[in-house]
Order: sequence, then C-alpha cells, then structure tokens
Amino acid sequence: RRWAHNIPSFSHLNAVTEEDLAHFHKILAPTSILSTLPPNSTSTDDLASYNEDWMGKYHGQANTVLRPRTTQQVSEIVKWCAKRRIGIVPQGGNTGLVGGGISLQKEIVLSLGAMSNVRSFDPVSGILVADAGCVLESLSEYIAPHNHIMPLDLGAKGSCQIGGNISTNAGGLRLLRYGSLHGTVLGLEVVLPDGTILDQLSTLRKDNTGYDLKQLFIGGEGTLGIVTGVSILTPPAPQASNNVFLALPNFNNVLPLYQTVKRQLGEIMSAFEYIDRTAYDMGISHGLGPILDAGEVGDSQCFVLVETSGGNQTHDEEKLNGLLESLLSAEQPLINTGVLSQSPSQFASIWAFREGLTECCQKEGKPYKYDVSVPLADFQKVVDAIRERMISKGLYGDHAISKVMGYGHVGDGNLHMNVIAKHGYRPELEEALEPYIYEIVASHKGSVSAEHGIGSMKTHALHYSKSDVSIEWMRKIKQVFDPLNIMNPGKVLP
Ligand code: FAD
Ligand code: MLT
Ligand code: ZN
Repeated sequence: RRWAHNIPSFSHLNAVTEEDLAHFHKILAPTSILSTLPPNSTSTDDLASYNEDWMGKYHGQANTVLRPRTTQQVSEIVKWCAKRRIGIVPQGGNTGLVGGGISLQKEIVLSLGAMSNVRSFDPVSGILVADAGCVLESLSEYIAPHNHIMPLDLGAKGSCQIGGNISTNAGGLRLLRYGSLHGTVLGLEVVLPDGTILDQLSTLRKDNTGYDLKQLFIGGEGTLGIVTGVSILTPPAPQASNNVFLALPNFNNVLPLYQTVKRQLGEIMSAFEYIDRTAYDMGISHGLGPILDAGEVGDSQCFVLVETSGGNQTHDEEKLNGLLESLLSAEQPLINTGVLSQSPSQFASIWAFREGLTECCQKEGKPYKYDVSVPLADFQKVVDAIRERMISKGLYGDHAISKVMGYGHVGDGNLHMNVIAKHGYRPELEEALEPYIYEIVASHKGSVSAEHGIGSMKTHALHYSKSDVSIEWMRKIKQVFDPLNIMNPGKVLP
C-alpha cells in the first residue's frame, strides 16, 4: 500500500460526475470509456489493470478510464478537465516502477494504448515518427526489416509504450551505446494541460532555435502534458552482436574488469551489466539459466554480462575470444569463469537471465526497488549497508526482508537495489529502509533515481538529489505549464 506520507490531498480537484461522463461520450466512442459511474457502469474489476501498478504496490482510485484514439480527442478531453478541474493521470503500458502512472485520488486515467500507429519511417535517416501509445517491442519489429533498431531496450519492452519511455526518460540496456532519450528524441507532439496541442514533431537532426521545450517532457512523468506523438532517431542494426557472461571471485574485480574490457573491446562494447551473487542465485532458483557450470561458478561473488555490437562477426569474435583468453590466463585472473554465446539462442538466453531478474524479484515476494546512481566503486558497500541495517533492526530473514540484492547497468553507474519483503509491503519495513537508503546514496554523492523516475514513490526524497533552488525552479516550470495542477498531480514534486 501507499503510506500516509505519499498521499497528498487534492482539495483543488473535482471527481468525475455523470455530467462529465456525458461530455466524454460526445468526444469518444463508448468502447473508449470505462467508468464505474452510470449509465454504462462497469465493475471496479474492469478498471483493475489501470488502477494497480506492475508491482502491486500502488493501488489507484480512478473511477474512469479514457482511451482516446487521436491527438484531437486528447486535446478535447484535457480542455474539459481543465474547465471542470478534473485531475488527469496519463498512462502508457503501466510498467513504471515508482507509482507515477497510478491515480492517487479521483483523477481519471488517460490511457494512450489506443493510439498505436506508426506515422512514418525514413529508412535513409532512420527517423521514426509514431503515436505515443506504440509498444516499444512493436516499434522494434516495425523497423527490423529496414535493419534498424530502437535506441533503447528494456525488460518491459513487450508492454511499455514509447510515450511512457519518453515520459520516464527510460534508460535500459542500450544507453551505454546509444545515449539517453534526451539525445535520440528529435521531436514531440504534446497536449498541454490547457488542451493546446504543442506540435514540435520535428524530424531534423539539428534545430538550434532557442529553448528546446521537448526536453522538459522527456522525464516529465506526465506532470507537464500528455505526449501524443514522438519523433526518434533509430540507429542501424549492428551487423554482428555477441555477448559473454563472466563470473568474478569478488566485487573488487568489477572496476578493473570494466577498464580491461573497455580497453580491449574498444568501440564494439555495447553493454556492461552487473549481477551480484544473491541476484544470480535468485535467477537460478526461478529457472533462469543455468548459463555457467555450477562447479566453475564456485563461490563467485558477482557476475558481469558484456555485449558487443559491431560490423564484422569474425573480427568481433576474435576480439572477444582474445579478451576471454587474456582474462583467464592472467597471473591473478579477474574472473573465475566465463561463457561466450555460440548461437543466437544462447545470446538470447544470456540476455534473458539479466532481463528476467525483475520478474524473479516479484516471485520472491514484494520488492522495494531502489534505482540509484552511485559511483561504481561503491555499489557493493551500498547494498551491504542496507542488509546490515535490516539485520540490526531484526528485520532480516524470512519473517521480514528475505533478500537484499544489487544488479544493474554498471556502465552507466546505475545500481538497482532490490529489497525483498517476503510476506508483503509493511510500514515498519519501509520506515527502516527510508530515508536511510536515500541518506546513504546522498552520502556517496549519488542520485535517488537513476532511470525509473520520481513518480509518487520518491517525491519526499527529491531533495536528496536536487537543491532547494532546483526544486523551486521545477515548481515554477510546473506552475507555468499547469497552473491548475490537474496534470498528474502529486507526482515528481513534493
Ligand atoms: P507507465 O508506467 O504507464 O507510466 C510511467 C510514467 O509516465 C507515469 O508517470 C505516467 O503518468 C507517464 N506517462 C506514460 N505515458 C505518458 C504519455 N504518453 N504522456 C505523458 N506521460 C506519460 N525502466 C528503465 O528506465 N530501464 C529499464 O531497464 C527498465 N526495465 C524494466 C523492466 C521491467 C520488467 C519493468 C516492469 C519495468 C522496467 N522499467 C525500466 C520501468 C518502466 O518500464 C519504464 O519506466 C517505462 O519507460 C515505462 O513505460 P510505460 O509505458 O509502461 O509507462
Ligand atoms: C532493470 O534494469 O532490470 C530495470 O530497470 C528494472 C529493475 O530495476 O528491476
Ligand atoms: Zn534498469
């Protein structure tokens, strides 16, 4: 459940009435409206998938879900909501991990899922223009025959939408190679909180004409407007892709390994992902892998997945084989063992191990997820500090927190700490974890959110990573765009 400190009261907002619903029926087809209000009231069960987040941690209160098909319809809905002071929660694939896409009080959910057309794709420039509701994986499939790939990839690709990715500024598994969405997004179409359509759907690589407004919506988490269209630069598909999975004797070897791998692989290294022993064992116990021989893994303390994406299979394999040989034959090897994928299916199963960890955490219990940036050298210290904290509070074990683990995007300095509450979320567990974790992160000069965002989970922790001046100017920006505070209220800003 959401605890009291995260539930703001919205006295400035009105709940949806039958009159509002009648107006929405003038804008949308009946099949695009779900509401528990008469005349066509549906049961709360029909709204459950919009009111419950992916983790089952946040429970929404929306009594109405609208599923527009066009930007014009979004605009008309928003105009009405502004007039009637009705809060709006934009929702994409609802895979967010910080409670950003869930209605806190009686705001409506505006789901983008029915806006899922590709508008254009230019195979020469690689520029893709699509509705915000397109699922990330279907966009990948759309451009694959043209030998292009999306510049981002994440475990939630089968459900998350490009509009949601942009609104959370999602990072994921390809950021190391292709950079963040702040660079690859060329233009956006956004419905602003007064219903105006801001058309900045540029397909230009270069456009240096003053303030770049679109950047505010990348990572805006739906608090400044609703993204309805996206123009994004997609890179050519690599001609050759390989991956290796390495077992390391201890955490201290991760940094020197990263340096060695970068030096030896050079431009072909495209991902460098980290998995600690607890996360690895959890993956194995839930049927991921096995990737490595258990005997050879021995008491390895952590694991690294390295991916290469290059232009020549033979050249890349030679480099990778050379890397593995030199790693294993060193006087004091940095790794215990490793495997180089030998086929597309082995390549896929190595990635599936890393991507599957999020789902395994769900199977273990209820995860408290802390997605933070800290210096790579401190990853293990931070994870250990949390475990020790829970031990010292008598909250470590199958009765409370059964596992504390770390995995993540080492190459980006992004650690995912997962703290598993075996029997479900409980206030005393959260109180032991927060703000302690944020204080630890701040003491390492880290960020309380590396890639998942602030949502409703971390509004009270924003100040650990943003100065008072920054927060004040964020508030001013919110006030300029959304003076009525109807657009995803209670999210991002404390
Ligand atoms: P939602 O969850 O629906 O919404 C997220 C936020 O964006 C909300 O605040 C919502 O209001 C807003 N929003 C959604 N659509 C719009 C829109 N069109 N206009 C305005 N606001 C909008 N995240 C990463 O960064 N990296 C990862 O590697 C990663 N891996 C994941 C793996 C799994 C298995 C899961 C479940 C999640 C993962 N995530 C990851 C988190 C999540 O998938 C991403 O944040 C994703 O970008 C959310 O997209 P969505 O369409 O599901 O958005
Ligand atoms: C990941 O990298 O796997 C995701 O961001 C999701 C998670 O933190 O589990
Ligand atoms: Zn991640």
